[in-house]
Amino acid sequence: MRVAVTGAGGRLGRALISALESSPYTGPSGPLAWSRPEFDLDAPDAFEALVERDRPEVIVHAAAWTDVDGCAREPELALARNGGATGVLARAAAEHGIDLIVVSTNEVFDGRRIDGVGYGPADAPAPINPYGASKLAGEEAARAAYEEAAVPAAALGIVRTAWLFGPPGDDFPAKILAAADRARASGDPLRLVADEWGSPTGAPDLAEAIVELVGSAAVDGTHHIVNSGVASRADWAREVLRQARVDVPTEDVPASTWQRASTPPAWAVLAPTPLPGGEPLRPWTAALADRMPALLRQRSRAATAGRP
Ligand SMILES: NC(=O)c1ccc[n+]([C@@H]2O[C@H](COP(=O)([O-])OP(=O)(O)OC[C@H]3O[C@@H](n4cnc5c(N)ncnc54)[C@H](OP(=O)(O)O)[C@@H]3O)[C@@H](O)[C@H]2O)c1
Repeated sequence: MRVAVTGAGGRLGRALISALESSPYTGPSGPLAWSRPEFDLDAPDAFEALVERDRPEVIVHAAAWTDVDGCAREPELALARNGGATGVLARAAAEHGIDLIVVSTNEVFDGRRIDGVGYGPADAPAPINPYGASKLAGEEAARAAYEEAAVPAAALGIVRTAWLFGPPGDDFPAKILAAADRARASGDPLRLVADEWGSPTGAPDLAEAIVELVGSAAVDGTHHIVNSGVASRADWAREVLRQARVDVPTEDVPASTWQRASTPPAWAVLAPTPLPGGEPLRPWTAALADRMPALLRQRSRAATAGRP
């Protein structure tokens, strides 16, 4: 099976390429890694020729403009990159009878839910920031392309996920370890946001689950794929510190402590949908434990580089 991955140089894209390389059905030539400048969200006119050239059977669309504050400052650009470009890709894919998986986000929901239940595919999206609005526009453009296409053989999957972590290094756990070192040096407590909740998810776990979907031909529909468990940002940070054995005083603060261009949804929790194998993804704490050795190596390299 010829599987192409957009945003192949990103956090999820790298994990997808790695998962596809070790999967039994991508063939000897392996997955097609579409990275910039070959696949640039600012140059969607080139997508049709790329599809024609490589003729994949499945495309996993992981590329996006993920800078949520940047999207808030330039909402038109966000809409073009995450909405319009996804529509162009979906039209090209649908016209060629290619299965498409569009990776989307928990930020399509408003996060105002107060019943303690994660959002499911039947819940109505209502984004509260331009990033979420642009990703929802991408979902809708892809659905319209597949509904209007004359090729019934192809499937469209929307995979929503949340709070991704994994290499390369500037993910939330890496930022927390760096912030803890700065807090210790300054003598101030590490301030942690306690009123924002989500579903931390290891990018390698999500990638394996997407590969499972592709291989099972259960692509069609809306899937919520996250590691098991719910955490506030503060819970997540404390678990990072616990696993890294970093002891630093902490203080819980509201998200409003920091002025940001975008407003994140407060309850950004997704209820996972069943995977073809029937097994849910493992708890996020276990996925974090796998990430920890690389984080600790990175932290010790940074400490060595900072020494006089
Ligand atoms: N990160 C999260 O917490 C999270 C949560 C929910 C959903 N998601 C979704 O998951 C998917 C993968 O996210 P990720 O964390 O892997 O993101 P990422 O690390 O920022 O990767 C995004 C990829 O998009 C590529 N890209 C192509 N054209 C671009 C352009 N014109 N401007 C900006 N980027 C461009 C980037 O290329 P370069 O490598 O050249 O920059 C990069 O490879 C996205 O669809 C995102 O919306 C992410």
